[in-house]
Amino acid sequence: MGCTIIGCGKQLPALDVPNEELTKLVDTTDEWISTRTGILSRRVCVTEGNVDMAEGAARQALGWADGGYSQCKVAPEDIDLVIYSTISPDEMVPTCAAVLRRRLGLVNAAAFDMNAACTGFIYGLTIAETMMAASAPGAPGAAGRNPIRRALVVGGERLTRVVDWADRNTCVLFGDGAGAAVVEWDERKPGILSWFIKNDDDHTNALTCPACFDAPQPFTPEGVDPNALQQADPSIALIDAELDTTERIAAGAPRQVLSMHGQKVFKFATSAMPAAIEEVLRRANLTIDDVQFIVPHQANLRIIKYAAKRMGLPLERFQVSIAHRGNSSSACIPMTLCDAYENGSIHPGDKVVLVGFGGGFTSGAVLYEA
Ligand code: UT7
Repeated sequence: MGCTIIGCGKQLPALDVPNEELTKLVDTTDEWISTRTGILSRRVCVTEGNVDMAEGAARQALGWADGGYSQCKVAPEDIDLVIYSTISPDEMVPTCAAVLRRRLGLVNAAAFDMNAACTGFIYGLTIAETMMAASAPGAPGAAGRNPIRRALVVGGERLTRVVDWADRNTCVLFGDGAGAAVVEWDERKPGILSWFIKNDDDHTNALTCPACFDAPQPFTPEGVDPNALQQADPSIALIDAELDTTERIAAGAPRQVLSMHGQKVFKFATSAMPAAIEEVLRRANLTIDDVQFIVPHQANLRIIKYAAKRMGLPLERFQVSIAHRGNSSSACIPMTLCDAYENGSIHPGDKVVLVGFGGGFTSGAVLYEA
């Protein structure tokens, strides 16, 4: 209670790539992509970086730029924390959060990146809420902590740089973008009512994405071996899904592209998403009838429709944005939340659920009162 969303924003890269264009790259059709996923086109970064998009999104959320939704203009020195969720940072160090903090002049903010795959924005909100509650005046131990009154929570992805553009199973699904939200601690407001985060084991590596650091190694199990540098083979081998990560890497598994077994992830998603919604409602002593609007992760329109059916809700109660963006991992939920505010779907006093799932497998939901 008390952690309230007071602004949100989004920014997409300029290039729009319709399905038809991808038929130049892989054996696919617009018909297959649109009927199986609901995707018609996606935005792709050519010149933009991850933080470039996040900066635009954050400026809207802070009330500094047109677009998005903002209850007030927040001064740069009033942001105490930046949490930046990404699986596709521009660089590991400095973090995206640190670069964004500098660009926006958030002189008082502690800033860090985090990764919970596509559920990252949900995890980020839970961290912000917990740190705010723990440092609020009167909270036990608050005097020993950074006071966190306002936080900027970002989901930003430049996923298309880790996509294998020769793999039709994955390349048609993903896109780039960034969304941001400003949250403020105000004990007079209900704000976030409950949250739930969970990990299930992805036993068969159904969804994997490369590490960003992949320099050739001059080591063998015996020690330093300068020849190992020359012998390092950067070629991409097939993943054997039954091997664990260490074995896969030793076997030369691809570390530079995202890889997915779609059906396994689909199966996980269709159970994890309704389960997360049910759990946040249970924790807040509410039922689905109390909820006005749901903002889900956008991986496949069929997954959202399945969740709607399972919850007994019309699709109109879900914000859907996949058609012209595809799946942009942790950026989906904040961008789609921004859409919902911009098109007037969320009204003061509404109970809203944000819900996601992703690699790992992670899943989670946040229930808040607008
Ligand atoms: O953000 C979180 C992670 N992602 C997800 O949540 C994604 C979850 N999974 C999905 O959304 C779906 O499983 C996909 C959209 C990825 C795939 O849809 P599907 O209905 O599960 O298709 P499938 O994998 O069972 O493939 C059916 C057929 C296969 O051909 P055969 O074996 O039946 O001859 C595929 O080779 O469709 C083929 N196929 C394609 N055909 C044309 C796969 N990709 C394509 C393509 N174009 N792009």
